[in-house]
Amino acid sequence: MDIVQAKREWEQLAQQLRVWQYEYYVKAAPSISDSEYDRVFDRLVALEHDYPELSVEDSPSKRVGSDLDSSFPEVSHSIAVLSLDKAYSDDAVLQWIDRCEQKGTRELSFVIEEKIDGISIVLYYEKGILKRAVTRGNGFVGNDVTANIKTIGSVPLSLPEEIDIAVRGEIYLERVDFDRLNKNSELPYANPRNLAAGTIRRNKSSEVAKVPLKIFVYEGFWSKSEEQPTHHVQILTELIRLGFRVNPSFAIFANTAIKAKELCGNIVTGSTITGSFTDLADYIHHATTNRKHLEYDIDGLVIKVGELAMREQLGYTGHHPRWAIAFKFEAPEALTTIQAIDVQVGRTGRITPVARVESVPIGGSVVSNITLHNQDYIDMLELSLQDVVAISKRGDVIPAVERVVEKNSSGNKTWNMPAHCPVCRTALITKGAHTFCPNTGCPDQVLGRIIFFVGRDQMDIAGLGPETVKYLVDNQCIKDIADLYTFDPDQLIGKAGFGEKKVALIKQGLAESRQKPFKYVLVSLGIPEFGKKAVDLLISSGISSIDKLLAIVDAGDSERLLAIKGFGQKTVDSLFEYLSDPVMRKRIEQLREAQLQFEQGKETAGPAQSHVFSGQTWCVTGSFEHFSPRSLALEEIEKRGGRTTGSVTGKTTHLLAGSGAGSKLDQALKLGITVVGEEDFISLLD
Ligand code: IVH
Repeated sequence: MDIVQAKREWEQLAQQLRVWQYEYYVKAAPSISDSEYDRVFDRLVALEHDYPELSVEDSPSKRVGSDLDSSFPEVSHSIAVLSLDKAYSDDAVLQWIDRCEQKGTRELSFVIEEKIDGISIVLYYEKGILKRAVTRGNGFVGNDVTANIKTIGSVPLSLPEEIDIAVRGEIYLERVDFDRLNKNSELPYANPRNLAAGTIRRNKSSEVAKVPLKIFVYEGFWSKSEEQPTHHVQILTELIRLGFRVNPSFAIFANTAIKAKELCGNIVTGSTITGSFTDLADYIHHATTNRKHLEYDIDGLVIKVGELAMREQLGYTGHHPRWAIAFKFEAPEALTTIQAIDVQVGRTGRITPVARVESVPIGGSVVSNITLHNQDYIDMLELSLQDVVAISKRGDVIPAVERVVEKNSSGNKTWNMPAHCPVCRTALITKGAHTFCPNTGCPDQVLGRIIFFVGRDQMDIAGLGPETVKYLVDNQCIKDIADLYTFDPDQLIGKAGFGEKKVALIKQGLAESRQKPFKYVLVSLGIPEFGKKAVDLLISSGISSIDKLLAIVDAGDSERLLAIKGFGQKTVDSLFEYLSDPVMRKRIEQLREAQLQFEQGKETAGPAQSHVFSGQTWCVTGSFEHFSPRSLALEEIEKRGGRTTGSVTGKTTHLLAGSGAGSKLDQALKLGITVVGEEDFISLLD
């Protein structure tokens, strides 16, 4: 076949696919079977493979995305991408309408749309071809995410006319799709909007293509002003005609219901509501209560002046048009301002940005610090210093920044990680989504590592709380974990806060830690992805000493580790990375010299193990998968020397809590009693 023939065939196929994609994604009314579609699609892709010049930017094949890494360069918007002023009651909306009417020189009409809780996007078409899709950013500069947006089936890649137009819309994810995807997600997202925002910043557009994102468009800006429609309903009508997906549920209000009906014209959505101003408050109520039945999240309504001439007349403030307002539903959120973003260096060198915000009460506590996780999270929010943000409490506990509600007025751009570690000035590196300080000698890492090592769930060394460890590090008594066993605690006597008693406690704690079973030693090394559960799995698979483990690592035998049920690639990679590090190897050798346990001892099989619960008083509540009836759990505790009681009292040391645990759990939490879940309980029995 020659190129002329190929092009002819390609054009036929492309035209057919465009129609089918439109039917499927925009109209939600496919006219052919999936297999028929796939057959034609595959043929188109094959042609483009053989004749790469056919793979034009608006080819229907672009929907599947690519595996190439895309970047999201900053680009300037050629329209002002404004946000909206807000009203929180129907009264406030009616007052705003009054003000508009007073200022306007003509009779006004208003269109009310749903305020889709998604990601704001601007689609720029030149000569009818989608050239760029840009995030809102700060309203002047956003990120170019075109390759990713092209994978969204309801975004037209080309228009039926060769016009230049900018179209604003919202990318969103339906609730059912969110629930399905979020279930399998490693780091569950709080809501569909965050998942959608994370998705459009994925580096591979082929990954974006797997998420069924959708778009609703709501504004069009024609570059030739004579082509610009004169009423918002006409804008929507034109956008529909051009092949865009417009949310059919909107309403038009005018002085009289008849006038509103006239304005409705011949818009073909089927569900448009019309009415007079007296019906407007009712509509707001109706939309507010009805929103839970929608397939997608909305966070309010947008009320817009219909007449474009009047929009111009009403004009703009610095940030908002005066011709539109957002009616926001209430949410258990608080507003605050980002005053600073500090970075913290964790024990593994991971850098965590933390927002310092103006203190605000929310859900019963006052929040002033909020973790921002990593750069991706900040990019997703497009967060800058001095932005006003909405914060919530995830799961009612951990405060989180939900979104920017008002960009700073100082022109601050999206915040970026520093290039160097704030503690040791080493150049930072990125691994996956996270940023790290590669200097294992970085003082904050050293401190974090030692605090972790001596911590309650690890070596549990008496007398060595975080403050004490900090003193020892700051005063150069210790530089690494192993130094704990070589420095002389007696030298502390007489120093601030160190009496003889305290020093004796530290000495005893260190001495006792030499008897701590191997599994605790292993966890205490602080290898990422290698916590208590993974260590248990490792040991029960027969790898019962550090020598066995190191031999596997040195032999590069990842298969042996991957064969362990419950071990994933991440765990194995981490073990290899950390255990091949000479600094870690030296640390292990030093700890071995300090006589820590590096082999699973006899204690696990001997009589000592059968009394692991001695001195403890357990209460059991809720129901269990493996201990039904509950008395089976009580037996296990008693067999191991523990006492059991029927209620939680001051003497209770542990609560085993199953599903449906109620008042006993509350009581235990109040009293600060150790609460153990079923899985952890089983590993304690082991
Ligand atoms: S109109 C000048 N209409 O809400 C035009 N916005 O602060 C302003 N949004 O950034 C936007 N649904 O991302 C408009 N039907 C709708 C909307 C909508 C959601 C978002 C948009 C904008 C924000 C307003």
